Amino acid sequence: ASNAMWGGRFADGPDAIMEAINASIGFDQRFARQDIEGSRAHAAMLGAQGVITASDMEAIREGLLTVLSEIEGGTFQFSTALEDIHMNVEARLSEIIGEPAGRLHTGRSRNDQVALDFRLWVRDQMDAAIEGIAALQNALLAQAEAGADWVMPGFTHLQTAQPVTWGHHMLAYVEMLGRDASRFTDARARMNESPLGAAALAGTSFDIDRDMTATALGFDRPAANSLDAVSDRDFVLDFLNAASICAMHLSRLSEELVIWSSAQFRFVTLSDRFSTGSSIMPQKKNPDAAELIRAKVGRIFGANTALMMVMKGLPMTYSKDMQEDKEMTFDAADSLMLALAAMTGMVADMSANRPALEQAAASGFSTATDLADWLVRTLDMPFREAHHVTGALVKLAEDKGCDLPDLSLADMTGVHPKITRDVFDVLGVYNSVASRTSYGGTAPDNVRAQVARWKERLA
Ligand code: ARG
Repeated sequence: ASNAMWGGRFADGPDAIMEAINASIGFDQRFARQDIEGSRAHAAMLGAQGVITASDMEAIREGLLTVLSEIEGGTFQFSTALEDIHMNVEARLSEIIGEPAGRLHTGRSRNDQVALDFRLWVRDQMDAAIEGIAALQNALLAQAEAGADWVMPGFTHLQTAQPVTWGHHMLAYVEMLGRDASRFTDARARMNESPLGAAALAGTSFDIDRDMTATALGFDRPAANSLDAVSDRDFVLDFLNAASICAMHLSRLSEELVIWSSAQFRFVTLSDRFSTGSSIMPQKKNPDAAELIRAKVGRIFGANTALMMVMKGLPMTYSKDMQEDKEMTFDAADSLMLALAAMTGMVADMSANRPALEQAAASGFSTATDLADWLVRTLDMPFREAHHVTGALVKLAEDKGCDLPDLSLADMTGVHPKITRDVFDVLGVYNSVASRTSYGGTAPDNVRAQVARWKERLA
């Protein structure tokens, strides 16, 4: 068999197994648009610099558009014998326009080409992630605004800690997601240098203009070192890192939704549109989307770890190991986008069960800290002593099987003689949240101010 690509050097074609392990066209066809965009910019530059003629440049640029429309129209015949997207596109271009196609690869290599395609693709994914995050933040903000003053238990150790507002809890995720978006923004700025023109690894002797292609492709500048430009995939790892942390946040919210939608909590009802039923138990309404998001996170973490492993032992510059950077990144990106979209739908549709939240907020001695603070403020008691006195009152309530506000004044003064009736004012959950006015605290007014701030930021 003759060799489709390197017939000059090779007398024989590859073994079928060689072709199977070597080909990337099965997955890197996802780079078709980026590959053609990069090639069109490269051709325009070669033409402008007089490296190729204007008519060859025109023929190449036009022909590439035809190739793109064939790929997008689904009529393109991908060939494993041509290894990857780069060779597939070039071979088809050559069928369409003939001889000038052979001039496209002047001053370029697949090494800078794939580094370019992947950068363009990851950059788009970063933009999509930032958009997806903003949509989720908006859904959370709508919840926060509606329930700025609804009370619910705040937890530590998943044990009732202090009452908080529903809006405050929603806003906690808005903050986390805001940092997630900023991680993508930072990574995007860091990666936005063009590798095109680094050629195989050493640069080229042709009179190319790397600034021109960098600008045409939306980069801030060309990468300064040709070895680095073709050999690092840290921009992918930045993406996967940011994706992992974002996914971790989605997973925590998923976990809360799973807990909250249970019959034991009843804090939220998920919509039918974002739930599933059971084939045997007619009463069931399951939070599958939340569970799947929680699980997809594992794939994203896995991709991050896998690519770290692929890269860690590679000498400068390109090694074929780096072809293994793509599938897991595609999978991670798809998982993240789907998780963001599903979470946005779930949050937008879910309804909080206000009475259940309020009832839960008031149970579990959630205002014990308010009581201790009252002792400090009213009786000038050292906080440690107030903690002790309050602990004794909690113990008493627990023994009597009631909550703190249900104790009588006599019960209270039995534990500490100076306690007065005023103490009951601070034992209610609404008083409790309204009093948490310190900056960043859970008071409804704070929540409203933060909602307004975020709305402005996201507008
Ligand atoms: N398909 C290859 C990849 O994905 C393109 C680069 C090939 N370069 C090479 N020197 N074999 O990494």
